[in-house]
Order: sequence, then structure tokens, then C-alpha cells
Amino acid sequence: MATRTVQTVRAGENNAKQRASTSARNSAVDTVRNPATDLAPATPRPASYLAEFAADVRASLTKQPQRELPSKYLYDELGSALFEAICVLPEYGLTRADARLLQRHARDIVDALDSPVQVAELGSGSGKKTRWILEALARRQRTYYYPIEISPSALAACEKEMGQIELVSVVGYEKTYLDGLRAVATRRDTQDNLLVLFLGSSIGNFDRGAGDEFLREVRKTLRHGDALLLGTDLVKDAATQILAYDDPTGVTAAFDLNMLARINRELGGNFVLSQFRHQARWNDAERRIEMHLVARSLQEILIPQANLRITLEPGESIWTESSHKYVTSEIDDMARRTGFQCIDQWVDAQWPFAQNLFLAE
Ligand code: TRP
Repeated sequence: MATRTVQTVRAGENNAKQRASTSARNSAVDTVRNPATDLAPATPRPASYLAEFAADVRASLTKQPQRELPSKYLYDELGSALFEAICVLPEYGLTRADARLLQRHARDIVDALDSPVQVAELGSGSGKKTRWILEALARRQRTYYYPIEISPSALAACEKEMGQIELVSVVGYEKTYLDGLRAVATRRDTQDNLLVLFLGSSIGNFDRGAGDEFLREVRKTLRHGDALLLGTDLVKDAATQILAYDDPTGVTAAFDLNMLARINRELGGNFVLSQFRHQARWNDAERRIEMHLVARSLQEILIPQANLRITLEPGESIWTESSHKYVTSEIDDMARRTGFQCIDQWVDAQWPFAQNLFLAE
């Protein structure tokens, strides 16, 4: 029986004319790459994407008193591969806890929802953990799976792997979370319920207020009866948390530093990576890990394609990411504040991490 479908929806892909002019502009950009770091971007970047990247880099690197870089740019092809490596680090128990809970409770999770259910995943990565949910659903119905992912390489891996599951059809969206979710919501059949997966504690990468705002936006795309499965990493002792974000092998440091390398590759920047060190700090008041790239010496940074020139003092840092940690008792409130009801919660016994099932009110 032919039961597998895999297709991908990418921005602008149905417009051949747009595609041709995009690649012409791309090659013009390529000729001004920094020769010292002459690596082609893994996937051709449309000019509109580069303009946005440049604007984001410019706005965040000039922030005062604390310079920043937007964490979504950590995930180019190399960054996504390094993140996959982070997920198997002995010190980073989060992904294994997430996967254990999904494996153990996939049946409970899907049994809480009325058929038929379609599944959308925000930031699917390779989608490995999602297999349990899809297999549990496919046992009772043909299942549509919509991974939403900004990294083309991660999305391709996800489509390939999940497309092999019997009775699962995969339609990938190379888009940001909300753009992707809106696209999925408009194409789903009216009688189908949607289960949105937001796993691995990606919610923790938003500041708390922005996280609420994001969940409210997710809720707006949903209907009564739809659900959100939300992963949240829980507060644990500071030493364990720091090690999870600054491992002795240096994989996390490489993942973080790759953001500077990416700016060199794609925007012609002159960051010297050896002059920066990765640092993870626990902020107790905000209950979050903060990731910084700290200048080891005075740095004159030039990023021609972002029209930017800045000086970094020795010891000055660029803040690249936050990872907020939660206590189980705050999750109910978070659901209520954002238009959901938390109907179930599962906590891993080995690594404090919770899987929370929210129903759209
Ligand atoms: N969502 C992941 C987390 O908060 C992302 C992540 C893991 C990360 N390790 C990192 C981001 C190191 C930046 C640096 O756990």
C-alpha cells in the first residue's frame, strides 16, 4: 500500500522567476565573502534573508549596555549538526529526558485527544523524538505531520526519517514558528484536531513575558479541542545546569562560537574565534542559564554587509541565548494566562524535565 508522502513547502518556491532573480543576487553577494573564511553558505540564501540577517545582527550587536545576537541564527547547517551533538552529551540530560517521557507516555498523550489528529512541530530539528507520538497516532489513523524548521538540513533529515513511518504523511515547512503554524492551520481539514509539539524546552529560550506572548500567538492559530504538548526543563542544582551548557568536550562552546563564524561566512565579518570564549552563567533571580561569548582581548569588529563597525573591550560579552528553567507548579498558571488548560503533566525521574499537555480553551 502506498502510504508515504513527503513534500516540502519553502518560501517563494512556487515562483520560478523569483527563484532565478534570487540566485543572481546571491552570486553577487558571494563575490564579497571574506577570503579568510571562504566557505559558501550550506544552502543558497535569498537576498531578502541576508538583508534581514544583516539588520538583526546590526540591531542586536549595537545594543547597550549588553550586546546580543539573536539565538535563531545559531542554527545553520553546522549549528544544527552541533546541536544534534549537544543532545547526546552526557552532561545535557534534557533531550534524553524529553525522549524518555515521549516514549513512555505517547499513548497517554494521544489518547487524551479526539481523532482525527494532525501533528505540527515547532522547530522539529531531526524530529527523532517525535517518532513515538506519530507511531502511536498512526496505529489508529492516517496521520499528517508538519515539521516547521528554519534549518533546511535539519528539515530534510526530519522529512526523510519520519516519511518512512507507515501511514504518516510528512509536509515540511521551512519557516519560522508562527509563520509555519499559520500556514499549517490554514491547510488542515476542518474536522481535524491539531496537536502542536513544542519540545526540548525551546519555550525556555524566550524571556518569560515573551514566552507568554508567544503561547498566546500559538493559541490564536488554534481552535477549541486542539492541543499543545510543551516541554519544560525544570530548575535543578546550578552546577548540573552550568555543565549542561558548558560541557568539558567543548561541543556547546563550538555551537555558540559558530554564530560568529556564520557572520564571517555570510556577512563578511572579521571575528577571530580564538579571541572569544563561551560562558554559561546561572541567573538565579530570573531562573535561567545565560550564554555569552566573551572577548578575550580588545576586538575591532567589522561586518561590511551589516554596515557595522564596533569595538569590544577585553572581557566584554555578547549574549547569545537564554534558557529559562521552570518549577512544575508554575505551568498551570502559564497555561491559563495564555488561553490553555494544562490537563496533564509528566516529569522524568532521572533529569528534572516536564512534558505538559495543554488543551486550547
Ligand atoms: N533549547 C536549547 C536549550 O535551551 C538550546 C541550547 C542548548 C543552547 N544548549 C545551548 C543554546 C547552548 C545556546 C547555547 O537547552
